Amino acid sequence: MTKLLVIIGITGLQGSSVSRVFQNEPDWRIRGITRNPAKYKEDPQFQDVELAAADLDDQTSLEKAFKGANGIYAMTNFWESLKEDATFQQAENQGKKPNEIAMEREIQHGKNIIQAAAKQVATLDRLVFSTLSDSNKWSNGEIKWNLHFDGKGRYEAYLKQQFPDLAKKTSYLHVGYYLSNWKMNPSFAPRKEEDGNFVIRKFGLPNGKPIPFINPPNDTGHFVRALILSPSAPPGSSMLGYCELTTMEEYCTIWGGVHGVQCRAEVLTYEDALAQGMPEWMALEISESGTYVTKFGWAGGDPEVKHPKDLGVDVSKLTKIEEWIRQEDWSSVL
Ligand SMILES: *[C@@H]1O[C@H](CO)[C@@H](O)[C@H](O)[C@H]1NC(C)=O
Repeated sequence: MTKLLVIIGITGLQGSSVSRVFQNEPDWRIRGITRNPAKYKEDPQFQDVELAAADLDDQTSLEKAFKGANGIYAMTNFWESLKEDATFQQAENQGKKPNEIAMEREIQHGKNIIQAAAKQVATLDRLVFSTLSDSNKWSNGEIKWNLHFDGKGRYEAYLKQQFPDLAKKTSYLHVGYYLSNWKMNPSFAPRKEEDGNFVIRKFGLPNGKPIPFINPPNDTGHFVRALILSPSAPPGSSMLGYCELTTMEEYCTIWGGVHGVQCRAEVLTYEDALAQGMPEWMALEISESGTYVTKFGWAGGDPEVKHPKDLGVDVSKLTKIEEWIRQEDWSSVL
């Protein structure tokens, strides 16, 4: 009997990785959820995958897509809402910040997934949530604006309170810092100085402390495989998803070594970010995120969040940062 894994966001960086890894599992077939299956019909990476239309705003569409699932990989995307004009319009109308609106929508998406998955609880073996910790809770209220973390922590709490039977079958992947973020966040891109040396002015990342770096398209599937199949990761497990734990200073040294240049890390402050034209809500969000991970850690010090090697992940398959740097196209910064 083959088992069915349903993957939310199968065309994204995390979901496509889960799909690739499970395509090598002979006992599993895959149903990938996307808003627009027709767009990916000819895509060779989804030839052996059933694509189903569903939308996180529409709980009924999720219920349909989850029918018969033995496993579900679930994720929500805070930043996606911040690409939509409607988010900014709503913020203005309600006198809120755009990141507050994005968090409210993300929590609703999480609740829609939970309520739809709860209808399948009798046949479901495992729900795995891509998540982040509730920084407001783990900092005892000190951190107020790290909302791209907090929404995920909030619906996790909702799941545990409202759906204990589903919670007994759920595990959590705390996804680390994307190595690819240098393309989205200019402060993480190495910049050439007049003397020919390079600097990375980090913002929203811990000072002098290890960062859980992840290369999502390659690594996510190995974490999720362990959270679903490994006897070392019983349901209820939480994992910090990273390929290497490395400080930004060490990352700069590796980066400089690969390119035969000097590279150092500097801190970009909240005031610097504002002076560079970053909107206030975004500067708050990112700087508080950095404060949180510096003072409390990526998972806020939650003792339940374990390392990949302790939960049955084959760590030899994970990305080596130096190799990733060698494969990446840096022509835009060199
Ligand atoms: C990522 O995975 C691809 C495909 O399997 C592989 O060719 C590549 O070397 C991997 N990248 C890194 C940095 O490990």
